[in-house]
Amino acid sequence: MEIVVLRLGHRLERDKRVTTHVGLVGRALGARGMLLAADDKSVERSIKRVTKRWGGDFFVKTGVSWSEAIKNWKQEGGKVCHLTMYGENLLDVIGEIREDAKNEKARIMVVVGAEKVPYEVFEAADWNVAVGNQPHSEIAALALFLDYLQQGKELKALFEHAEIEIVPTRKGKKVKIGDGE
Ligand SMILES: C[S@@+](CC[C@H](N)C(=O)[O-])C[C@H]1O[C@@H](n2cnc3c(N)ncnc32)[C@H](O)[C@@H]1O
Repeated sequence: MEIVVLRLGHRLERDKRVTTHVGLVGRALGARGMLLAADDKSVERSIKRVTKRWGGDFFVKTGVSWSEAIKNWKQEGGKVCHLTMYGENLLDVIGEIREDAKNEKARIMVVVGAEKVPYEVFEAADWNVAVGNQPHSEIAALALFLDYLQQGKELKALFEHAEIEIVPTRKGKKVKIGDGE
């Protein structure tokens, strides 16, 4: 399964930190990359720095048109899952989404907003999913959705070509320095 995050509505400066965290959560929890519907290269640079140091091949593409991205994704057979508090409750639809994602070739685009999300996104989505029907945060919604989708397997993922890797310990901090190869 390939998962890509589409981040909409990013406001320059104001959303820099939140959007960076959306990307970091996507990277850490099993997404292949993030499409950013805004022209803010600073987010891309921050996430690339993390990927270089901590490994994996997460991509960030900045300045995408969200409508084109969704259209192309669907034309190529991908499914679109929009996270919104107005949607169907995660617990009621996750079974159906997992069933769809069983196929190795399945592709899921997870859309998260910032401020008001255009109605076209609700219409284009295969699923509008609420991580609980209360307002909270795109970072939290994305993390929980990715975890429910992958049933925790993403937490054990290994990241290749890392310059630095954590050796989990009960107390203290232990790291292994790799060669980034
Ligand atoms: C801070 S919210 C702003 C929502 C905005 N007021 C609206 O009317 O769409 C930003 C994003 O967080 C995500 N989000 C917030 N609460 C959510 C929830 N309960 N379930 C799923 N996603 C949620 C959505 O992707 C939303 O676009």
